[in-house]
Amino acid sequence: MEAYENKPLLVKGKIRKHKLISNNYGEMVIEAPQIAKRAKPGQFVMLSRWQIKNLLLKRPFSFYQINPQEGRFTILYKIVGKGTEILSNSKIGDEIELIGPCGNGFLLPKEANRIALVARGIGIATLLPLAQEASNRGIEIYSFLSAREKSLLLGRDSLESLSFHTFYTTDDGSKGRKGKVTYFLEELLKENKVNFEAVYTCGSKRLAQHIQELQQKFHFFSYVSLEERMGCGIGACKGCVIRTCHGYQRVCKEGPVFPLEEVMFYER
Ligand SMILES: Cc1cc2nc3c(=O)[nH]c(=O)nc-3n(C[C@H](O)[C@H](O)[C@H](O)COP(=O)(O)OP(=O)(O)OC[C@H]3O[C@@H](n4cnc5c(N)ncnc54)[C@H](O)[C@@H]3O)c2cc1C
Ligand code: FES
Repeated sequence: MEAYENKPLLVKGKIRKHKLISNNYGEMVIEAPQIAKRAKPGQFVMLSRWQIKNLLLKRPFSFYQINPQEGRFTILYKIVGKGTEILSNSKIGDEIELIGPCGNGFLLPKEANRIALVARGIGIATLLPLAQEASNRGIEIYSFLSAREKSLLLGRDSLESLSFHTFYTTDDGSKGRKGKVTYFLEELLKENKVNFEAVYTCGSKRLAQHIQELQQKFHFFSYVSLEERMGCGIGACKGCVIRTCHGYQRVCKEGPVFPLEEVMFYER
């Protein structure tokens, strides 16, 4: 992946498409050419469609689809609180304030032939543009998707269409296997059936820890995209730090993508 300058811009965008997916999720296309042209898989935008007097801080959202030609990008969001509730009431043409692209995106090794993407729930949002880029480069993608139930396997058709193989797990067994999403990954690694140049994950710290355990057994490169509550999104407030083997690092500035083996999920 090419190196790029990482200076987020403050711009206005316009909502061009918006649909609610079930009661708790929405998908929104935003026109903001200055951001869409620079956005890379794994990066995110800080966004507000509200006034400071109603809600102080912008909220971070991953790029779910990036369309630089049209100057647009898409976000996939889950309604969890006041900001996402306001977002869900947006109309086409509404103005939105953005800071982005923020953070560092995924590294895709130059020589990669095959990668694995492991997502839980809304974690698919940041992995889909990576899958698109990998597919454009002819890289074989194995996808491992997990959610509470079938209807929460969001974006599965898009990811499946880019993947060589897609494995599903749900907590209730309504699609694929019941149980841990890492089951299939471990089986493939155990039987030495496939080698991955890198394994990418997002959506659950517990899942990331399982992959860390597999990493110690099977020795592969892995990257995790982390989510922490954010104040500024641009490295100024230090509100989003996590512990790594290099000390505390800011998820918004040094991340949100980290080499998985560097992240310390527990005190050691
Ligand atoms: C880099 C990054 C990328 C993200 N990408 C997406 C995305 O593509 N789609 C998406 O739906 N969400 C994404 N998120 C999470 C999203 O930013 C939060 O859900 C959102 O800020 C919630 O705002 P709110 O005002 O609706 O909820 P709040 O009222 O702020 O919070 C409601 C509840 O959600 C919890 N919460 C809020 N933010 C986070 C967080 N970052 N991590 C864990 N718990 C949190 C709070 O503790 C609280 O319990 C991302 C977060 C980060 C840091
Ligand atoms: S959110 Fe302010 S430093 Fe990361």
